[in-house]
Amino acid sequence: MGWSTVDRPRSGLHTFDCPPDNGHTDGMADQYAQSGDDKRPTEVPAIRWEEPPEGPVLVLLDQTRLPAEEVELVCTDASALVEAIGSLAVRGAPLLGIAGAYGVALAAARGFAVDEAAEALAGARPTAVNLSVGVRRARDAYQAEIVKGGGPEQGARAALAAARQLHREDAEASARMAEHGLALLDELLPGGGHRVLTHCNTGALVSGGEGTAFAVALAAHRAGQLRRLWVDETRPLLQGARLTAYEAARRGMAYTLLTDNAAGSLFAAGEVDAVLIGADRIAADGSVANKVGSYPLAVLARYHHVPFIVVAPVTTVDMETPDGASIEVEQRPGFEVTEMTAPQAPVSGVGGGNPVAPLGTQAYNPAFDVTPSELITAIVTEEGVVSPVTADGLAELCARSARVTTD
Ligand code: MRU
Repeated sequence: MGWSTVDRPRSGLHTFDCPPDNGHTDGMADQYAQSGDDKRPTEVPAIRWEEPPEGPVLVLLDQTRLPAEEVELVCTDASALVEAIGSLAVRGAPLLGIAGAYGVALAAARGFAVDEAAEALAGARPTAVNLSVGVRRARDAYQAEIVKGGGPEQGARAALAAARQLHREDAEASARMAEHGLALLDELLPGGGHRVLTHCNTGALVSGGEGTAFAVALAAHRAGQLRRLWVDETRPLLQGARLTAYEAARRGMAYTLLTDNAAGSLFAAGEVDAVLIGADRIAADGSVANKVGSYPLAVLARYHHVPFIVVAPVTTVDMETPDGASIEVEQRPGFEVTEMTAPQAPVSGVGGGNPVAPLGTQAYNPAFDVTPSELITAIVTEEGVVSPVTADGLAELCARSARVTTD
């Protein structure tokens, strides 16, 4: 298996007294708020391609070790990347697409069987459609070069160029989603001072740029319009607590962490103005698969008349999946629920964590759930906003995006 790890200097998170944020009067729950003061941007990119003398490698920031430590994982072949994807060392829909494309380029550059690597990469996780889209883009570039009569070296260069292009496009898409999303928030919630609830992690750790839903919250923060980012911890793997809080702290955003089951009382107290989430796959009928726990938030939002906004690049829209029921939802191992793995804590369970349930307990552990379009106020993409969310609206968006790409 081709991987190794590189330890980075530790960059612990600090807690600070809560400074007044943007002059707004804090509400009931805000008294518990913590504002991260650490304004350093994330120094370690989530993914990068390197060409040391020993041959090309794909370097990943190992997200399973955050926020305790910043450790990089160096992949020298596609099977190491497949393992990193399965363990969520690299994760989040847009980044999975970028990783998949670089994985194909890595296999080609190292002289491995490209089709075999592409198949293994595309199948590493089933729900985020971006993964297979990214893999296909690099593989098609490779094959087109071979068909033209180029050798494997030219094919490898073409695959790498395609991966780099996707990486750049995702960064551009992220910036445009942030603009469209902020404009939508301002339209739906005139007066600013937004209190936004988010789930899972959708920032720079999942993107070539600053992310999807998180990028919108960040744009609001920069515009002085974000009063509070409510961060769901996101059980069982705590992407909210470990990763979104890490990013929010580094950006100096006013954020507060809550357990997933505290969201209901927060809505009931009138403390949430909008929900912003990402997506792993958007079906042709507008159903959205995202991190498990998104659907209950949509139900809560509807009951409390709060806008529920999905932010995702067009690459997450899958017109070949007709509806929500056709989306394959990844089932993950039960030990993620029956054990807790705090980064750095001593471990003893079968999955390497501390048991929190009796030995042998069966667990239901879907990684995602599906929210039907009627519960979604708007889908924000780099090509614009779809609202109301309908099959026709999405089809028009995809047609527009295809025109832009081919022009
Ligand atoms: O299992 P994960 O951590 O890969 O799940 C990620 C999510 O569900 C994100 O919300 C989604 O990919 C959107 S990221 C922009």
